[in-house]
Amino acid sequence: MNNKPIKAIFAGTFDPITNGHVDIIERASKLFGELQIGILINPNKKTLFTIEERLNLIKKSTEHIDNVEVIFFEGLLIDYCKKNDIKVLVRGVRSSADVSYELQMAHMNKELEESIETVILPTNTKYSFISSSLIKEVLNFDANIDNLVPKCVLEELKKKRSTL
Ligand code: COA
Repeated sequence: MNNKPIKAIFAGTFDPITNGHVDIIERASKLFGELQIGILINPNKKTLFTIEERLNLIKKSTEHIDNVEVIFFEGLLIDYCKKNDIKVLVRGVRSSADVSYELQMAHMNKELEESIETVILPTNTKYSFISSSLIKEVLNFDANIDNLVPKCVLEELKKKRSTL
């Protein structure tokens, strides 16, 4: 039996990180020796926050968790995992609508690399309706989102509001 601590990754766009993501990160960090938060560099996706801004917001939002590291990557997630000895992909599912998409990605990643597993955690029900796009949309109408994103994200979103 291999007693090496298992390295996992929770990857996404995080534009911006929400309390739904933080919930998954907190729970996954207890299951694995090391949890990386991987920000996908996707030049084709227009984002509100730059890579550096997203990296800093994730770092601040997860500074209370010891075994978390924030990184960014380009290309196939599975290639990054192989290069960095990561054995588990963590995903959160918010509703049944997420399940078929997540299964499709899990099967494709398994096809690409047999040794890497996907672990799917159900999002806490109180965050099951959150998405980064909806956060940006409602903020544009001056809605109260204090309970939906970390404080540092709220502050940065308010600064950017005029550009939304
Ligand atoms: N709480 C709140 N929101 C959540 C959430 C949670 N637990 N889990 C997902 N979301 C939301 C995100 O906020 C995002 O919302 P938005 O669309 O409004 O911005 C949405 O779900 C989608 O998440 P996102 O991170 O943008 O992308 P994704 O789920 O499609 O997957 C990767 C991201 C990085 C895992 C995937 O694109 C990838 O692996 N890319 C690399 C290329 C690759 O390997 N491709 C082959 C894949 S099989």
